[in-house]
Amino acid sequence: MLPTREPRREGSFPRFGKKVYTFQTIDSTNNCARALAGCWAEEGTVVIAEEQTAGKGRLGRTWLATPGENLTFSIILRPSLPSEEMNLLPLLVAVGVARAVESVISMNVQCKWPNDLLLDGKKFAGVLMEGVLSNNAVDYVVVGIGINVNQTLFPPELAERATSLRLATGASINRDTLFRAILHSLETEYDSLSASGFHEVLPRWLSYAPIVGRQVTISQDGSILAGTVRGISKHGGLIVETNGEERVVFAGDVTILNMEPYAARN
Ligand code: BTN
Repeated sequence: MLPTREPRREGSFPRFGKKVYTFQTIDSTNNCARALAGCWAEEGTVVIAEEQTAGKGRLGRTWLATPGENLTFSIILRPSLPSEEMNLLPLLVAVGVARAVESVISMNVQCKWPNDLLLDGKKFAGVLMEGVLSNNAVDYVVVGIGINVNQTLFPPELAERATSLRLATGASINRDTLFRAILHSLETEYDSLSASGFHEVLPRWLSYAPIVGRQVTISQDGSILAGTVRGISKHGGLIVETNGEERVVFAGDVTILNMEPYAARN
């Protein structure tokens, strides 16, 4: 679906968020951003909605968010990047969001491979990247970001694993302040990594994710892989040692068998 209204907040940000298309209700901000990107919308264009009727999560899942309490938005990126480095982008986005959230709530955020952000070991945000390639390079990427901000009630099946900034801090969070902080942080990270090389995101991301050396299980397509994490590959995959052999995994759900290191970061 294409936007029916003019951008509301034009000029509020340098590049990321220079154009923001705001919807009360939409199927998915990612779908709209993809349509815009296909019509040559410029890098940094944002689509944000109060309510998504078909919000998408990773691995074909649904992203549920109570309308009016959270942040659900997508941003268009047009990086100069070979296709095999595309999986570095969600790590960059996770670092940008983590930094912004920490600046607003004064708590340590943790990243969980590939695209989750956690507080006190529970997920409060996720990133869904959808990219279009041409000639083995990235043409454009839409990065969708869902953040549980002020939501306090979750469906029973999620309640054990999900949290929000409000639940973690005990305080209501100004969504507009947070949104602006995230766009600013994402632009800063993106520009810095465009200049240095996107692989430089790896040490930054690892500083939020004490996963190396941990025992994990990874479920993908109905199969389970168990092993020890040895690092993140130069293309953003998880390097797992299993039965004395290293394998690089690019998708799946990771369970860390002992979550303690995720409870606090120095
Ligand atoms: C995940 O953790 O599975 C990723 C969730 C991504 C959700 C966001 S909300 C805004 C954007 N639009 C969508 O349909 N999905 C992403």
